[in-house]
Amino acid sequence: MIKYRLIAFLAVLLQLHCPTLGQPYPNYHADFVGIGEHGGDLKWWQTAAFYQIYPRSFKDSNGDGVGDLNGIAEQLPYLKELGITATWLSPIFTSPMADFGYDIANFTEIAPIFGTMADFEHLMEVAKKLDIKIILDFVPNHSSDECEWFRRSAARDPEFKDFYVWHPGRMENGNRHPPSNWISVFRGSAWQWHEGRQEFYLHQFVKKQPDLNYRNPKVRETMSNVLRFWLSKGVSGFRIDAVPHVFEIAPDNQNQYRDEPRNDWDNDPEDYGYLQHIYTKDQPETIDLVYSWRAVLDAFQREHGGEDRILMAETYSPIDIVMQYYGNATTEGAQLPFNFLLISELSNSSNAHAYEGTVLKWLQHMPKGRTANWVLGNHDQPRVGSRLGKDRVDMLNMLTATLPGASVTYQGEELGMTNVWISWKDTVDPSACNTNPSIYEQYSRDPERTPFQWTDAQDAGFSNASKTWLPIAVDYKEVNVELERQKPLSHLNVFKQLWQLRKQSQTLQRGETEVKALSDAVLAVKRYLERDSTYLTLLNIYDGVETINLLQSFPDLPPQLKVVVVTERSQVKVGDLVNSTSLQLQAKDSLVLQTTSSYYSYATNGEARFLPVLGVYLWLAQVGLYLTNR
Ligand code: GLC
Repeated sequence: MIKYRLIAFLAVLLQLHCPTLGQPYPNYHADFVGIGEHGGDLKWWQTAAFYQIYPRSFKDSNGDGVGDLNGIAEQLPYLKELGITATWLSPIFTSPMADFGYDIANFTEIAPIFGTMADFEHLMEVAKKLDIKIILDFVPNHSSDECEWFRRSAARDPEFKDFYVWHPGRMENGNRHPPSNWISVFRGSAWQWHEGRQEFYLHQFVKKQPDLNYRNPKVRETMSNVLRFWLSKGVSGFRIDAVPHVFEIAPDNQNQYRDEPRNDWDNDPEDYGYLQHIYTKDQPETIDLVYSWRAVLDAFQREHGGEDRILMAETYSPIDIVMQYYGNATTEGAQLPFNFLLISELSNSSNAHAYEGTVLKWLQHMPKGRTANWVLGNHDQPRVGSRLGKDRVDMLNMLTATLPGASVTYQGEELGMTNVWISWKDTVDPSACNTNPSIYEQYSRDPERTPFQWTDAQDAGFSNASKTWLPIAVDYKEVNVELERQKPLSHLNVFKQLWQLRKQSQTLQRGETEVKALSDAVLAVKRYLERDSTYLTLLNIYDGVETINLLQSFPDLPPQLKVVVVTERSQVKVGDLVNSTSLQLQAKDSLVLQTTSSYYSYATNGEARFLPVLGVYLWLAQVGLYLTNR
């Protein structure tokens, strides 16, 4: 009898230890909230669906062929329909448009081509009513050469004399040369001679974009005031432009700038890739500068209350540097340094292992307690469909909507808009215009900036001008909002379903994450949360039909799962039950599946997989033993 009691005792011990036995290994623990604590306070931006509007191309309300603020206000309900939380607008400020608004002549004034300050205020009201937050583009690295500050700096006005990076140049054999070999992102020397001041000024982008001098505290204060100005207009934060470029090395004690070393893979001396930008990019001071902007936002919040105002930082930098923008143990930084890995690390030929590696790279580098984000595209990058495959649009939207954290969608990606070929004659992007007809296509960003496709009417419903600022895509009769609203499984409707699901599901908002390539073709993302449903997103990246046994990779899944989101490639329907041991995915198919019973929801939460089943048996065994021994 003693023997049986001992067995029963050991069994109870085993039962108590089941939580550890059953623990799967999440490769991302969403520790910004207590796991299992439903209702913990998630901040609005931590699970937000962000949407980037490129104002010139969104909606033209006055028929001049260029989009404007009233057009945005008019179409804001569309963003609501998509399930968008916040929208960031590319620059809307007074500008000669040498870089389409990224060359700002007045940082606190609205460009007439976009409207007036009253139009902006109207837009803010509409946004407030719809509960959509407005994020503005903050362009700190440079102004326009038509900015008052630059004019006064060039004229050596004492207040502005050192607002920009000026240098008399290097004298060699009586000839004047630029101060260093630095190259502009948009080709050629980054130094421009200024006749009036008789000095060179630095411009890391086009020559109409002189770099501000951040070693001058007055510049820092002036730019912080720009933030304060727009905060007081009610915006919810800023996307910070071209962050890694803001500081360059200080001149040495001879007042000389050092040359940058060469990259041997690039033989075009005019091209930005020709040099390693060790003195003009990613200088350590930049991180602290971003922290100081966060302090401006936080101070405003302390004074005025309300929901968090946020910073999103544009940093195409090595991952260890990008992560520092989040902040450190003592200082807060940008809530969301943009995660561009899905852009920079994946191509049309990437397999599921590459997808897995790319997603995990961000999650595993991210400091504890921070929030992930996923950017699929923007106005500087080829469209998602053109970059990663037209037939992968839905699966990529599915991936970003079911990964933890925030996601950022560039206008038109929800429709599957693709790059539009633009002739050299029609090309307007300075990055391409600075090249020549034989290479411009490599540099042009015009193809991803064409007008938004609303309907199949004239100008795709974007405008009623006889000519729009960039041509309309030829496919606008098949790819547009009006048509896609009617097709149940259009890209648009899949996108909407994904964000509806995301909003309803605590698991998708705050659950744990496991990302796994099940083969070269299939990527799986599992999301789970105690006492809630488990979700599984499956992408078949390749063209073959794939049959998978999910239990091989996720042994704690139940034998059947319910289909919750499908695409037009899928052969199953929403509501169908599929077998975990033999699940078929069509070519380039993707699905979101959900566990159905609370038992499995609980059992797969990663903490007590065996507990319910084993626990009951052991309890019965104990009662049996007790009764036989009485
Ligand atoms: C950023 C913008 C880009 C612009 C550049 C210069 O990278 O996204 O469009 O040309 O900065 O402001």
